[in-house]
Amino acid sequence: MDFAFTEEQLLIQDVARRIAQEKIAPSAEHFDKVGEFPLDNIRLLGENGLMGIEVPAEYGGAGMDPVAYVLAMVEIAAGDAAHSTIMSVNNSLFCNGILTWGSEEQKQKYVRPIAEGSAIGAFALTEPQSGSDATAMRCKAVKQADGSFVINGKKSWITSGPVARYIVLFAMTDADKGARGITAFLIDTDKPGFHRGKTEPKLGIRASATCEIEFQDYLVAAEDVLGEEGQGFKIAMGVLDAGRIGIASQAIGIARAAYEKTLEYVKDRKAFGAPIGTFQMTQAKIADMKCKLDASLLLTLRAAWVKGQGQRFSNEAAMAKLTASEAAMWITHQAVQIHGGMGYSKEMPLERYFRDAKITEIYEGTSEIQRLVIARNETGLR
Ligand code: CAA
Repeated sequence: MDFAFTEEQLLIQDVARRIAQEKIAPSAEHFDKVGEFPLDNIRLLGENGLMGIEVPAEYGGAGMDPVAYVLAMVEIAAGDAAHSTIMSVNNSLFCNGILTWGSEEQKQKYVRPIAEGSAIGAFALTEPQSGSDATAMRCKAVKQADGSFVINGKKSWITSGPVARYIVLFAMTDADKGARGITAFLIDTDKPGFHRGKTEPKLGIRASATCEIEFQDYLVAAEDVLGEEGQGFKIAMGVLDAGRIGIASQAIGIARAAYEKTLEYVKDRKAFGAPIGTFQMTQAKIADMKCKLDASLLLTLRAAWVKGQGQRFSNEAAMAKLTASEAAMWITHQAVQIHGGMGYSKEMPLERYFRDAKITEIYEGTSEIQRLVIARNETGLR
């Protein structure tokens, strides 16, 4: 077993850390306050290879492995969670799916602009009545005589929806077949029949724009079907496996930022004549924070390593996301508690870390869904 990172992995980690600390972290408070999409910063991430880390150079990406992706995501999330949400959707949910299931033409047309950072991608699975139960979708695609499809229906909670140029969309093509009746499509939001709905006001990751989208007689050409007809659910689940590694990394970045601020604070802040870091109740919290942080990172790196070996990694990704997201919630909660009034104040970023951490237990599969995936894998029962 080798715990050392390669030179290439360390290089992208360094690039991500530099941008996160110099550009992203200083603007995080502003973007959180105004809830504005940080387009210039996202372009900068794209120009530095961070929007298509695992995308081969021939499609405009950095051509690195999943471990490099984890390292870079952690750095960006430690700078600001909302930026890392946009980064993870572009990398894992958009580029990854097209790279795995797309044709050569689809990779050139759709992956390149996203990987280069000149356009934003999104992933549309969830609907108002269909979240964890993804096969309950009602958005419908009807096949035409020439092989094209006409799409009608709504999708909700679409991360980057307000600004996305291209979307990987899942729609029902044969409701009688359930999961096997879902097909994936590549959507150009500039085409007629695509509409954006209300933007969601959110507790955290406020700079990552989220909205409803609607399709009204939107026409998709046969060449814009991703994978085979009826293969959509497997594509969605496979893409989400990769996405869960990204969200685990995001959770680790948020938790690390909260932990580092807390470490400084417990050395400086005095009470009863001593730094609060000398009190056993604070020490216990620090020790537990560090253990949870490292355990989350190790599980996430393992999931990324298995992915890089070309093996199925659904269980490893679910374990990583479950552990890291619950660790992030716990660590940011303790960080606020240790900072007391300052933790609750908007003068420090602790309350933002706490608000941002919550989403990692919800999107790309709730903690309950991760437990279901793990337990089904472990027991073989359904
Ligand atoms: N990889 C490949 N195939 C998979 C798979 C995976 N990880 N998981 C399931 N499948 C296949 C199964 O093998 C099965 O195939 P067959 O028909 O050939 O047997 C098929 O898919 C159906 O599988 P299940 O019977 O297990 O499906 P289910 O209805 O019981 O659902 C579930 C399983 C785990 C609950 C799944 O629905 C799930 O993960 N739900 C959560 C959805 C989710 O994560 N949504 C997040 C929204 S996107 C988002 O959050 C983006 C954002 O904003 C950033």
